[in-house]
Amino acid sequence: MMKTDNPQKLRADRVWLSEETCDLDDFRRVAQKTTALVDYPNASAVEKNVLIYDSRKVTAAATGEGKRLVLAEICEAFGEGPGVVVFKQAYEDTGIIDRASAIFEAIIEEQHRTWTGGGDHFAKPGANDRIWNSLEKHCLADPENFAEYYGNAIIALASEAWLGPSYQMTAQVNRVNPGGAAQSAHRDYHLGFQSSAVIEQFPAHVHRLSPVLTLQGAVAHCDMPLESGPTLFLPHSQTYVPGYLALKRQEFRDYFEANHIQLPLEKGDIVFFNPALFHAAGTNRSADIKRVANLLQVSSAFGRAMETVNREKMSARLFPALKALRDRLSPEEIANAVAACAEGYSFPTNLDRDPPLGGLAPKTQAQLMREALGEGWSDETFTAVLAEQAQKKLS
Ligand SMILES: [Fe+2]
Repeated sequence: MMKTDNPQKLRADRVWLSEETCDLDDFRRVAQKTTALVDYPNASAVEKNVLIYDSRKVTAAATGEGKRLVLAEICEAFGEGPGVVVFKQAYEDTGIIDRASAIFEAIIEEQHRTWTGGGDHFAKPGANDRIWNSLEKHCLADPENFAEYYGNAIIALASEAWLGPSYQMTAQVNRVNPGGAAQSAHRDYHLGFQSSAVIEQFPAHVHRLSPVLTLQGAVAHCDMPLESGPTLFLPHSQTYVPGYLALKRQEFRDYFEANHIQLPLEKGDIVFFNPALFHAAGTNRSADIKRVANLLQVSSAFGRAMETVNREKMSARLFPALKALRDRLSPEEIANAVAACAEGYSFPTNLDRDPPLGGLAPKTQAQLMREALGEGWSDETFTAVLAEQAQKKLS
């Protein structure tokens, strides 16, 4: 390309990124960085450039004054660090995972029986089974298991570290059957789901914004040895700003093919990663492992989630379960379950009917649920007030 010293042209090149100006040498410089364990004092190891955390250790460190330190460390691990973190044994009690797997299996069987379930944006029919919006389906099917599952400290810690409070949880199950082929390298929602023609219409700061609007996670529902095809990652690739466009070019895809890494997971591990990290599900070469992961997509309070979730319906279903579990779950676990279920942000709303009394922001669904749990409301009262609040937010 022609070099220019025309200031208007230089500005336009800064603001408008293009597929054509992506440079493999620039990319190589960021993707070849090494993750140094010394920079992450709460981590246990670096394996293939990925940070490994012992969940019990990091949860213990994230109490009291230590919490801000741990959140900051994890935040930078997703940001300028490798962009991908494995939390080993995030579920010490894998019985919680097994119960959830049984619920998912029943939902998949029902989808097969009724020919519902629809298509998949990344795979051929039959190679895998998807449960879209597994979050809501899980909660409605078994709210007690949902509470234990999403009461998990690591899910809350990673989500808060990257997105701050009031995040919006969504989830989808992916079961890749033996023979299921690898996905092609991609970035995730938002810009990762658009064509170059669309992506090029967004100014550069939106390319930087997209990765902070969501966090990707995967809960391993079974042991995933390499032959079963756990996710392929390219650590540090999230820091290449024009990466949404670069991935449309063959040389960058070839670089991914040659340099990606893959780590085996055990049931109960959770991997979280920056949505701008280059990644792809692997090929399932095993004879008999149905590789099951619950894919978490956590959205910022300020973003639009990909899926519609009926949080009012979920909250009404979860409320009695949380009351029943009060002796078994800690207050933090209950708060985590509420955060994964109820809407945590005040807006959008109808300010005529839902004025911000006593503050700048009207009460959220999550605040209402916490209040009702604290004051021991009856299920009927909670459901009625919940419906009234939802009604007020409509125009
Ligand atoms: Fe993905």
